[in-house]
Amino acid sequence: MNAFGYHCLSFRMGGDVSNGVSVRPGMQGDEWGCANVHIHSWRETYTGLLDTVFLNQLAANFGARAESWKRILSGTTGSKVRVACEGSEIVGFVNVGPARDPEHEGRGEVRALYLLKAFQGFGVGRLLLAEGLALLAEDGFASAYVWVLAGNPTRRFYEKSGAHFQGESKEITIGNDTVLEEALVWRDIRQVLPEFPVA
Ligand SMILES: CC(C)(COP(=O)(O)OP(=O)(O)OC[C@H]1O[C@@H](n2cnc3c(N)ncnc32)[C@H](O)[C@@H]1OP(=O)(O)O)[C@@H](O)C(=O)NCCC(=O)NCCS
Repeated sequence: MNAFGYHCLSFRMGGDVSNGVSVRPGMQGDEWGCANVHIHSWRETYTGLLDTVFLNQLAANFGARAESWKRILSGTTGSKVRVACEGSEIVGFVNVGPARDPEHEGRGEVRALYLLKAFQGFGVGRLLLAEGLALLAEDGFASAYVWVLAGNPTRRFYEKSGAHFQGESKEITIGNDTVLEEALVWRDIRQVLPEFPVA
């Protein structure tokens, strides 16, 4: 049982999507499903924000993306992963771990959180974030942060969970683009998502 008091989240979603979605730990063998979500969600999310050619090429690099996920799932990169599944299909994931940025040393980092578009807007992202922050709390982190691409409306999602922009941004290169990322910080992750309090 995790810090939120459940083994596995399972619920029904409204609207046209009626299949049950459950959240479980990511494991070896999930690399193809995670790579699939990663590639599709990047294309769905970043069209208009990132270079179209780069986004169109993502699918061609599926094998490399899966290899990268194999390393992430092996735990050697310090990451812990939770996946959201509809049946046996992975439809989303959260990847958390210790900060990779020296200026955030001592904090946990939400390294990636993505859901296929068809599964967005039903509370699954909130549950994945809660799971990820609980993992960080279990590992002793009191605060956490996430990098969000400037202009990504997802920023509001994180702000609703109690994360704050503290003025920190950095330029990174993705494909042929130089883009701005902004850090959002949860100063005390025990205080976020009060309906799922961290023990
Ligand atoms: C961001 C993401 C994980 C959120 O998951 P989700 O299941 O769609 O979000 P939820 O249904 O759990 O929403 C939780 C709350 O955030 C709000 N929210 C979610 N996405 C939002 C958005 N884009 N803009 C404003 N509010 C948003 C919801 O309205 C909800 O608020 P409420 O509690 O007041 O009702 C998902 O939309 C996603 O994968 N987006 C594309 C990928 C991405 O941008 N990932 C983050 C990269 S840093």
